[in-house]
Amino acid sequence: MENNRFKGRGKSLLVLYSYHHHNTEKIAKVMAEVLNAEIKMPDQINPDELQEYDLVGFGSGIYSAKHDESLLELADVIPEVNNKNAFIFSTAGITGKSKSAKDHSKLREKLVSKGYTVIDEFQCKGFNTNSFLRLFGGMNKGRPNTEDLKNAEEFAKSLI
Ligand SMILES: Cc1cc2nc3c(=O)[nH]c(=O)nc-3n(C[C@H](O)[C@H](O)[C@H](O)COP(=O)(O)O)c2cc1C
Repeated sequence: MENNRFKGRGKSLLVLYSYHHHNTEKIAKVMAEVLNAEIKMPDQINPDELQEYDLVGFGSGIYSAKHDESLLELADVIPEVNNKNAFIFSTAGITGKSKSAKDHSKLREKLVSKGYTVIDEFQCKGFNTNSFLRLFGGMNKGRPNTEDLKNAEEFAKSLI
């Protein structure tokens, strides 16, 4: 695993979809700063251009137990790659090691099937006012918080 780690000298990109409270965008910005990466939305990506990057991070909020469809659809149409690294990130209402692994599984499977090595994954809590939660002021108010952003920064540093 360690051998596959991104060495920090290549070109990196974050593909982000974040709409509910821009929670995932907050962590993406911190990661992008560390990695000196561009952030693009899935609809701004020409699938062929992904080949130009040595490291690509794919992230969104978790909606109905998976990443946004726009990311999953992008993963379906990207060309197969050879020896390229990716990472996965998300924010979610409910988090945890096995929850995160499950939430990320659809996107992970697609990326792996395209030849990406998924070198690491990150998830933290995000403010959630979906559905009835709105009536009670939502869950995870204030998340991601300073500590979450710090963790996102450390995560990105660990990729280099
Ligand atoms: C339509 C919808 C569905 C959601 N489904 C889930 C879910 O299945 N599991 C979960 O943990 N959180 C779920 N959430 C909470 C979001 O993952 C959380 O609020 C996330 O931080 C939103 O990210 P964003 O602000 O970047 O869009 C859902 C939120 C919305 C709006």
